[in-house]
Amino acid sequence: MRKYRSRTALTNYKPTIAIVYASATGHTESLTQMVADALVRQGAQPDVFRVKEFNLAELCCYDIVLVGTYTWMNGEIPKQLHGLYEAMEHQDKTPITGVFGTGDRCFATYCGAVDLFRDMLHATTVLAATLKVEQMPSADDCLRCDAFAESVLTKYSHHKGLLPATNS
Ligand SMILES: Cc1cc2nc3c(=O)[nH]c(=O)nc-3n(C[C@H](O)[C@H](O)[C@H](O)COP(=O)(O)O)c2cc1C
Repeated sequence: MRKYRSRTALTNYKPTIAIVYASATGHTESLTQMVADALVRQGAQPDVFRVKEFNLAELCCYDIVLVGTYTWMNGEIPKQLHGLYEAMEHQDKTPITGVFGTGDRCFATYCGAVDLFRDMLHATTVLAATLKVEQMPSADDCLRCDAFAESVLTKYSHHKGLLPATNS
């Protein structure tokens, strides 16, 4: 039989979750709302911040940090998110993270900003999931947001020893 470490003591704890995003024309903002709704459906209570309203010193207060980004110019991260990128690259705490974003397949580097965040977060945090959506998200993307949210929460639970490790 599998042993569940400290399961009873830990299952009542809800992880603190920050979703920090930038959006110029509203696509990533809509996707952010869908990701937040997906987390709420799974019992979580995310705090949602437009990046300019987020105090980078608060990064260490969160168990899970999710980044929402559009892509700019040749696959670049928008300027507003540069400070967040650097703060996450150098933070002492190692949160569970995820990155999602919108882009346009017309450009050579589709959702390049998601890839840039993914590579950095993979190296410096416990990266749980990524999600890319083309332009404005539709109702069909709801299931993908659910899967993203589930991956993030499952990774958190595994990391905290709330669930048995899987072989996958
Ligand atoms: C000047 C400009 C450059 C862009 N460059 C890229 C790009 O390199 N890769 C990409 O996938 N999308 C690119 N896009 C598309 C945007 O990332 C896409 O429309 C996104 O959904 C906008 O998100 P927002 O509505 O949250 O601002 C570009 C858009 C503009 C206007």
